[in-house]
Amino acid sequence: MNYKKIKNMSNITLTMVKPTALKKGYAGKILAQITEAGFKIQALKMMRLSLVEAEKFYEVHRERPFYGELTEFMSSGPIIAAILEKENAVEDYRKLIGATNPENAEEGTIRKQFATNIQENAVHGSDCDDNAADEADFFFSKKERY
Ligand code: CMP
Repeated sequence: MNYKKIKNMSNITLTMVKPTALKKGYAGKILAQITEAGFKIQALKMMRLSLVEAEKFYEVHRERPFYGELTEFMSSGPIIAAILEKENAVEDYRKLIGATNPENAEEGTIRKQFATNIQENAVHGSDCDDNAADEADFFFSKKERY
């Protein structure tokens, strides 16, 4: 592992704006709140995941009862994926988006404002540095990162 990779691991997180939030027209507001909170967008793309790609992305949840519905939902329409850079990116981004279940999310968090329910919870955020690095590689080549 080279120095740059070690350095970047704790400074990036991967987010997706999920299909429902995109369909409802919230992407602009969500990205504005992300940059206003001090995150730099290192990479960004809009795409539709195939079911197989969604299954691969959420592989760690394969045994969970919601895996089938979640992967179907995540492949049901376009998403926006982005790599966000900031010191302490994973933890700070999880604070900005709020609890997985929007019913438990604090006022002012992205999920509180824009989520529909626990599955259609507006955005994804990586849960640790290792997963952030893997999830960033899942969506973006080196040439797509700035
Ligand atoms: P996300 O941050 O994308 O990571 C995993 C996703 O699984 C999570 O957001 C939710 O959308 C979904 N999820 C987690 N727990 C549940 C649950 N109990 N029921 C339905 N979906 C869930």
